[in-house]
Amino acid sequence: MPLRAIAAALNAAHRVVVLTGAGVSAESGIPTFRARSADAADSKPAAQPPSSMAALWKEFDPLTLATPEAFAANPERVARWYDWRRQGCLAALPNPGHLALAQLESFLAARRPAAAAPGPFTLLTQNVDRLHQKAGSRAVVELHGNILTWRCTRTGRDADLPSEPLAQFPPPSPHHPQGILRPNVVWFGEMLPPSALQAAFEAVEACDLFLSIGTSSVVQPAASFIQQAARRGAATAEINLEPTPISHQVDWSVRARSGEALPAIMALLFAMP
Ligand code: OAD
Repeated sequence: MPLRAIAAALNAAHRVVVLTGAGVSAESGIPTFRARSADAADSKPAAQPPSSMAALWKEFDPLTLATPEAFAANPERVARWYDWRRQGCLAALPNPGHLALAQLESFLAARRPAAAAPGPFTLLTQNVDRLHQKAGSRAVVELHGNILTWRCTRTGRDADLPSEPLAQFPPPSPHHPQGILRPNVVWFGEMLPPSALQAAFEAVEACDLFLSIGTSSVVQPAASFIQQAARRGAATAEINLEPTPISHQVDWSVRARSGEALPAIMALLFAMP
């Protein structure tokens, strides 16, 4: 059974890397990027999401708004959309999948304290919602940045944002008279933060177990990490509601909600000698 095999692999592993995508936050009520209306409606939210989030999401295509070109052409529209998403992320709560990953980190850290980076557990996430951190995860590498902090387009400096919706779009920068604020997310066509990329590369090179969870595995470079890990001899597993391009390449493929499979794996792991 894959869940038991994954728990046994976790029990034996020295360094674990987990890659997460939007599917992990679907059960917190945050719509995914692809098939977004379908799985937002289908998910069982652990917390009540902002009621209009899934409905509003349908009106905009994130794959066309998440670009520097879209922001340059219509900064008001893009900033409004990101501020609306920011509100959704602020209101959302971690679900049992996020909590299980935080538990896994504590479990592995207690068993094998790290002498040097990378430690026994690294969480690479494509999610910008900060729900992993809200759940208590610490070794998080944000590959696509985060939506909660915004920076000045002229100076690159972060600005403090209120927790309430912004009042002006695009938001003016407090740091430069001609600057406006943009979210610290990575848009299509932009470079990933070099420090995140380096940390990810080092963790993947060193891991002996790689889990890919709730990601469609189509956006690079994240999608290729699992092949890099497998080439180095790591065991590999996937948890996803649907088949993905990597499903046939992994050692164990679990077709389930992460909010259900991950707590089940943790229960099996805790029961192992
Ligand atoms: P996607 O929306 O592409 O994929 C979400 C995946 O999660 C799909 O494969 C679903 O089958 C799966 N899924 C949905 N609900 C699930 C659940 N409860 N449990 C397990 N799996 C579930 O999201 P990402 O793969 O994260 O990039 O997308 C990668 C990147 O593309 C994003 O970070 C974003 C996006 O465009 C940028 O914005 C740069």
